[in-house]
Amino acid sequence: MEKDMRDTEEIKNWKAIGDVFQEGSEIERYRRMMMQYQCAMLEVKTKLDVLNAELSLQNRRNPFETIKCRIKSPESIREKMERNGWAMTIENVERHLNDIAGIRVICSFPDDIYRLADCLLEQDDITLISRKDYIKNPKPNGYRSLHLIIEVPIFLTDEKRPVRVEVQFRTIAMDFWASLEHKLKYKKHIKKAESISDELFYCAELISQLDGRMQQIREKIERE
Ligand code: GTP
Ligand code: MG
Repeated sequence: MEKDMRDTEEIKNWKAIGDVFQEGSEIERYRRMMMQYQCAMLEVKTKLDVLNAELSLQNRRNPFETIKCRIKSPESIREKMERNGWAMTIENVERHLNDIAGIRVICSFPDDIYRLADCLLEQDDITLISRKDYIKNPKPNGYRSLHLIIEVPIFLTDEKRPVRVEVQFRTIAMDFWASLEHKLKYKKHIKKAESISDELFYCAELISQLDGRMQQIREKIERE
């Protein structure tokens, strides 16, 4: 059963990759590249799972509620490369795209986000490439999350390779907001777009206050 599902997925990917890379040898190189991103993603996910296990013993609660991993699809890779005017080669994909391997860590409280991010960045095999703190500096639409681009080494049969992974940290409430806002972004010709954006911005502010207050309540309970 599991194997069947894997095969179907494999065939779907194979076709999509074939649509993007025409030549046989390029397809092989592309599959190898994607395998490397997959491994890097697993490596970082394991690091976060380990931190979660240790911190939850210390604090008697989980620093994150959910962790989601995804690999960018061949279609999205092609779309982003075309949008930016980069020729579709493996070298260009590796050079320009930082979000082929993506991890989203969803925490209950804002302080957990910083704790986890700091613990991850302190590890000596992790290199920080970029950090965008949209919690301290929200986007004009109200979007909040902490984004890290990191590099992690993966060990293959004949080489050690640094591979980039995007890690997004947000609270449950910020994630709720971002999924609704995402719907607005991808819906074309929406009639009341402006008033909806205003309302979303207002909700983002409320969510930020709510996250802060929930954290204060938790701290009070912990002091009891
Ligand atoms: P991309 O080209 O979209 O990857 O963005 P970027 O290179 O400018 O990086 P940034 O760190 O700003 O955003 C990366 C990712 O964060 C996006 O792909 C989304 O998943 C998420 N994101 C950023 N801004 C928003 C936003 O305004 N709304 C929502 N819903 N998600 C956002
Ligand atoms: Mg992206």
